[in-house]
Amino acid sequence: MKKIAVFASGNGSNFQVIAEQFQVELVFSDHRDAYVLERAQNLAVPSFAFELKEFADKVAYEQAIVTLLQERAIDLVVLAGYMKIVGPTLLSAYEGRIINIHPAYLPEFPGAHGIQDAWEAGVTESGVTVHWVDAGVDTGQVIKQVRVPRLPDDSLETFEARIHEAEYELYPAVIKELLAE
Ligand code: GAR
Repeated sequence: MKKIAVFASGNGSNFQVIAEQFQVELVFSDHRDAYVLERAQNLAVPSFAFELKEFADKVAYEQAIVTLLQERAIDLVVLAGYMKIVGPTLLSAYEGRIINIHPAYLPEFPGAHGIQDAWEAGVTESGVTVHWVDAGVDTGQVIKQVRVPRLPDDSLETFEARIHEAEYELYPAVIKELLAE
């Protein structure tokens, strides 16, 4: 059975949906006060948090992450709102085994504000993408993506909620497929 780790920087709603459907070996957060850690505790999923600023540099920070993943024999790293660029230390140890979810239809609207950027661009549809992680920002090979419409009477809030609902469907579906391989 493949072992999965979920990385999240903040809220962790995607983690919650994933953990309710799959066994998650561990949660990692780069913020010690992230709400995802509380969610993990409530679901009895082991959680770990340390911050980049606690290390000499990003290499040392990511080396600590790699050690954690290797100690727990993690096969698949699931980024779910992990808002750091994956550096060469983590990437070289886990290349081809890290996936990310992005709240837009890549290559449209990469970066940290995919929902807001699509909204401000006035699109009639955006989407959600799950992709392999490479050295770029949201550039890795797409695994699966879905379109999400922006409806005429949408507010940013209702549009955002529809994007998140699509995430909660798409990410577990992709994880299920990858675990079955
Ligand atoms: C999700 O919408 C995810 O797609 C996005 O952060 C949110 C995290 O929400 N990720 C990115 O924008 C990555 N570029 P959550 O913590 O409630 O799951």
